[in-house]
Amino acid sequence: MKFSKIFENNEKWVAEKLALDPDYFENLSKGQNPDFLYIGCSDSRVTAEDLMGVNPGEVFVHRNVANLVISTDNNLNAVVQYAVEFLKVKHIIICGHYECGGVRAALNPSDMGQLNSWLQTLRDVYRIHRSELDTIQDDQARFDRLVELNVIEQCINITKIDHVQRSWNTSGYPTVHGWVFDVRTGKLIDLGLNMTEIFGDVSSIYNLNLFNK
Ligand code: CO
Repeated sequence: MKFSKIFENNEKWVAEKLALDPDYFENLSKGQNPDFLYIGCSDSRVTAEDLMGVNPGEVFVHRNVANLVISTDNNLNAVVQYAVEFLKVKHIIICGHYECGGVRAALNPSDMGQLNSWLQTLRDVYRIHRSELDTIQDDQARFDRLVELNVIEQCINITKIDHVQRSWNTSGYPTVHGWVFDVRTGKLIDLGLNMTEIFGDVSSIYNLNLFNK
């Protein structure tokens, strides 16, 4: 795709929006009130808004390599705090995807420079679930399962964040969801995680017992 085509596309998009609603951008500029925080992979094939069928203003988005929630990631922490405290999102979604290059790299250890430390989190997921993953003989099935287990672990990581726990204590929100996008079929799969139960299992370790100020 040519670089200049992007600006042609943009002009066409603006014209289409205005044809349907002349006040579209004026209304859009007034503010945002999304119900969802979506945390997904940077992979160019996994476009959050398209696969969810949502419009501008409906979902707050954070993407990084392999949809990781790392406690020392200042960017991620700022996104979560803003989404939870100010936007008061009702749902946080962690969305992984099959055929994820980051997950594949974690399955095949090699020197990847800057990516080494980032992918270490994925290797940790492998280690935590090694007993299950090592019983899977089929390479593709093991790869797919690591994608799913990574989503589950990142959902748990979300529950460790103080802003999330504080909001739970105040309002009961946000609900945390684990999804996988199947890039082979276009289908979005809800892993159906019972986060109340999952957090319950680890709350004696991670519950910060935050009291409302
Ligand atoms: Co990916």
